[in-house]
Amino acid sequence: KAKPRVFSGIQPTGVPHLGNYLGAIESWVQLQEEFSSALYSIVDLHSITVPQDPAILRQSILHMTACLLACGLNPEKAIIFQQSQVSEHTELGWILGCLLSMPRLQHLHQWKVKSQTQKNEGGVGLLTYPVLQCADILLYKSTHVPVGEDQVQHLELTQDTARIFNKKYGEFFPVPRALLGTSKKIKSLRDPTIKMSKSDPKNLATVNITDSPEEIVLKFRKAVTDFTSEVTYDPDHRPGVSNMVAIHSAVTGLNVDEIVRQSVDLDTARYKIVVAEAVIQKLTPVRSEIEKLKADHGYLKNVLTSGTEKAKELSIPIFQEIRSLVGF
Ligand code: ADP
Ligand code: NA
Repeated sequence: KAKPRVFSGIQPTGVPHLGNYLGAIESWVQLQEEFSSALYSIVDLHSITVPQDPAILRQSILHMTACLLACGLNPEKAIIFQQSQVSEHTELGWILGCLLSMPRLQHLHQWKVKSQTQKNEGGVGLLTYPVLQCADILLYKSTHVPVGEDQVQHLELTQDTARIFNKKYGEFFPVPRALLGTSKKIKSLRDPTIKMSKSDPKNLATVNITDSPEEIVLKFRKAVTDFTSEVTYDPDHRPGVSNMVAIHSAVTGLNVDEIVRQSVDLDTARYKIVVAEAVIQKLTPVRSEIEKLKADHGYLKNVLTSGTEKAKELSIPIFQEIRSLVGF
């Protein structure tokens, strides 16, 4: 029976937003307590599937490290490392790619979307990065992968790849399980029918965890709701105000019914400010910790270097076995 091990990754592009924090990073913090082995990777190799400026990328890797630590990831409890520094990720990616067919990759939803928007401009990496994700996970014989709904298809690819490898070379990889977060998808503040995302170009649509209290209040004040002034939770018919309730619930830990009951006397305009205040309260300590950590490049580099060493300690012996199974 495989040793329980968590793996997840985040791209070092921009600052995490409220959706990343509530939907992913908070659960990572919880999982580092629950699992004796947890790896969280800053997946810089994935980020170069779209053009990156080298100087900005280098800085973003450290900045993301600061953000993860400020959110509560603890280098004593989890391995926090930079993907590109463990070269076995790329090597295993090659081996696994040779086991997968082109149509299998071309059928992935994210590829269909991205190849539409990028036409023929994008690099081959846009098609093959899900294979690298398989390698990220399998390299450590990971058993549990916290994922958002948007990544479930890619985890299924990893599960299939593990089975294909095991069939060809003998039982080796555990088939990893998805850990679907219990928290709700956070929606864009300007279009509550789509998710809050780094790539949402609309101004004021996304709350970053580094936003000032003034920016947060402004963004919530401008948040799109509807023409009913009551506070109710009805995501299908009232996505805007329901997103407010979902955010409020996620930052306070109160359930949706309690929140709706508490808010009977408020109209949505006043309620948006209540939610903004709750978000500010949640993010204020995180933001000040980021500021503090950002200034200490030496410390951040140390965290990544020692994380890389620990990741290599795990990956090198596993990859040695893989080489021998494949016939190298
Ligand atoms: P983005 O779409 O903003 O670029 P990523 O794809 O880098 O975010 O996602 C990093 C993690 O954050 C993933 O686990 C993803 O499921 C989660 N996540 C992203 N957006 C949201 C959201 N709006 N609500 C909840 N979780 C989210
Ligand atoms: Na742990």
